[in-house]
Amino acid sequence: MELPAYIRERVPLAGLTTFGIGGPARWLAEPADREQLADSLATAERLGAPVLFLGGGSNLLVADAGVEAMVIRLASSGEFGLATARAEEPLVWQVGAAAPLPALVAAVARIGVVGLETLSGIPGSVGGAVAMNCGGREGGIGQFVIEAETVSLRGESASMKPPELAFRYRGSTLKGLLAINFIMKFKTIAEPADVLNRMREYRAAKAAVQPLGQPSAGCVFKNPSGLSAGMLLDQAGCKGMREGGAVVSERHANFIVTEGQASCRDVAVLAVRMREAAARRHGINLEPEIVVWGEEPAFSLLHEEPRHVDD
Ligand code: EPU
Repeated sequence: MELPAYIRERVPLAGLTTFGIGGPARWLAEPADREQLADSLATAERLGAPVLFLGGGSNLLVADAGVEAMVIRLASSGEFGLATARAEEPLVWQVGAAAPLPALVAAVARIGVVGLETLSGIPGSVGGAVAMNCGGREGGIGQFVIEAETVSLRGESASMKPPELAFRYRGSTLKGLLAINFIMKFKTIAEPADVLNRMREYRAAKAAVQPLGQPSAGCVFKNPSGLSAGMLLDQAGCKGMREGGAVVSERHANFIVTEGQASCRDVAVLAVRMREAAARRHGINLEPEIVVWGEEPAFSLLHEEPRHVDD
């Protein structure tokens, strides 16, 4: 089948993830507008290919063998990458799903809009960030989303609003769906210099306790209610634990960082060992936060009861 230039075959995904590892996508579509998106979805249907949506790849582990699917990654160069305040309404923003989260955080701070500065230092696309309601102690990005425009596999667009969006800790109903645009509403405007300063402070605070400069996918496990998975893993002696080219960060025990020739298998096996260590030490089964694409047998163990709990 003749494919348009924005759909390519057998494209390595490693460079499109923050871990920097993993195999290729059988097809990668990078549509820059709605027409190209509709055509990408129709092409997947004709090929009989399952469809996966890729954002900034910052919470993702791709199997070493890659994925037999049409991966759709909205191009940030077109309409999906725009982030602008509405004319006369600086607190209401129209944001494309492919806009980089750090660019949005900086753009709202520059005009003094308060709210997103706590997300400073988090990589990824706005689409991925909203779908998983990324955030920290101050809450997730979902609290600012008043509307999301989604597109179904058949190319039909729809609008979703809270409470249907069901934002919760690291989740929403958008997970696994394709959202292309959001409307965000903020509450306060302050002195831009103050908001920009707070943004820098949040970033510095994160950099002090997280390995921001090294390839990772952020926290590997979700925090159990009222507890920190990082603290539990630290107390279980996980810092510095290694599997091939994957190492548990010495800075934060809930981060796996990759070195040189790390494989997806290395990361998955190390995550299983971390989970077993936490279960042995604390009797708590940690739940993975990172998402895996493709076949990785070790990773499926992360969803089972850990072994050796009574060792
Ligand atoms: N701690 C340790 N050892 C460690 C890590 C943490 O003792 O190795 C202790 C810290 O000293 C602190 C407590 O655990 O007393 C909490 O640690 P931290 O402030 O780093 O927060 P966290 O609960 O580990 C959460 C999010 C992060 C987010 C930060 C900051 C999760 C799983 N993690 O981490 O999100 O950046 O708060 O708001 O919800 C992510 O989701 O990928 C992520 C990095």
